[in-house]
Amino acid sequence: MSIEMPPLRLPLSVLTPKLRGGAHSCLTRVSLLVWLVAVLLLSTGVATAQDGLANPHEGNRGAVRAGRALFETRCAECHGADAKGISGPDLTVLFAAGRTDGRVFQTIQAGIPGSIMPSSSAPDDELWAIVSYLKSLGTVSPLEFATGNADQGRQVFTANCAGCHRAGRDGGRLGPDLSRITLSRSRAGMTAAIRDPSDAMRVGYRTVTLVMSDGQRIRGVKKAEDAFSIQIVDTFERLQGYLKADLQTVQDEAESLMPPFGPDTVSDTDLDNLLRFLTSVHEGTAN
Ligand code: HEC
Ligand code: HEC
Repeated sequence: MSIEMPPLRLPLSVLTPKLRGGAHSCLTRVSLLVWLVAVLLLSTGVATAQDGLANPHEGNRGAVRAGRALFETRCAECHGADAKGISGPDLTVLFAAGRTDGRVFQTIQAGIPGSIMPSSSAPDDELWAIVSYLKSLGTVSPLEFATGNADQGRQVFTANCAGCHRAGRDGGRLGPDLSRITLSRSRAGMTAAIRDPSDAMRVGYRTVTLVMSDGQRIRGVKKAEDAFSIQIVDTFERLQGYLKADLQTVQDEAESLMPPFGPDTVSDTDLDNLLRFLTSVHEGTAN
């Protein structure tokens, strides 16, 4: 079974003009073009299931469709065609209850010992597709984000988040676009992502530090990597490709590039306002 990869989230049209002047890059313009093509082909490249943390097919409609078909043949007899449960539990509430993609993936793969919930030896891609399907069902109730003041939330966003994230038209591009994020994340999931970003870094946004042959260090988020090369978006938001032969080391980091926002910087009230603001962006009520 094949699953189409999600489109590259990187706004290349915006990033490419900056590449030409990229003083850090050791590559010529021609090889940059090669890199860009390579990045496009690789799509989300680093999207692997190894760490079981984040879904490489996040937001991909093809994966949702494939997952639905797989669910109907393998899971519906116990969980119901609508996933609302028969002998197995209701699976439409998993994400609202705070389960993460990685956790659901592992449950489906390992089964639940001591119960009739079976394990599965299906390829990772298929299991992630099922996770995508289940996630699409668990559309988060708009009531979760009904409280708070959107105008004040916008101020919190502009002060703390807009440097790295977009919501609507404006904002930075180092982190993912948050314009539609509250459609697929529960309040619990959003709170965790803001208070403890390093707990589950999103695929395509893992932190990496490159040490150049002259000792210079460049940090960024990793977009793609193979045996010979690596592509990152550095902290200046530039998409850069490097040959590993030109580097001393590639250090993958467990810390997100996003700093944690504890209650001392973003209070619970600020957070409530912020979530209302983000929700108003996709509702089209933000002004
Ligand atoms: C033979 C019946 C059966 C089949 C087939 C089955 N399940 Fe289950 N599943 C269960 C039962 C029963 C539980 C609850 C086990 C427990 O907690 O004791 C469960 C639990 C789960 C949970 C954990 C729910 C939670 O609250 O964390 C997930 C996720 C799940 N199933 C997904 C699936 C998926 C996806 C498939 C198909 C690939 C599947 N199951 C196939 C019976 C089944
Ligand atoms: C220095 C840059 C930076 C700042 C500032 C920042 N973020 Fe992030 N954010 C990131 C990066 C990079 C990621 C992807 C890695 C990860 O998941 O931790 C991310 C991930 C997220 C995610 C998870 C998205 C997903 O799809 O799972 C949320 C939600 C989020 N940020 C919200 C915020 C909010 C709200 C603020 C302001 C209070 C903020 N961020 C400030 C860089 C930043």
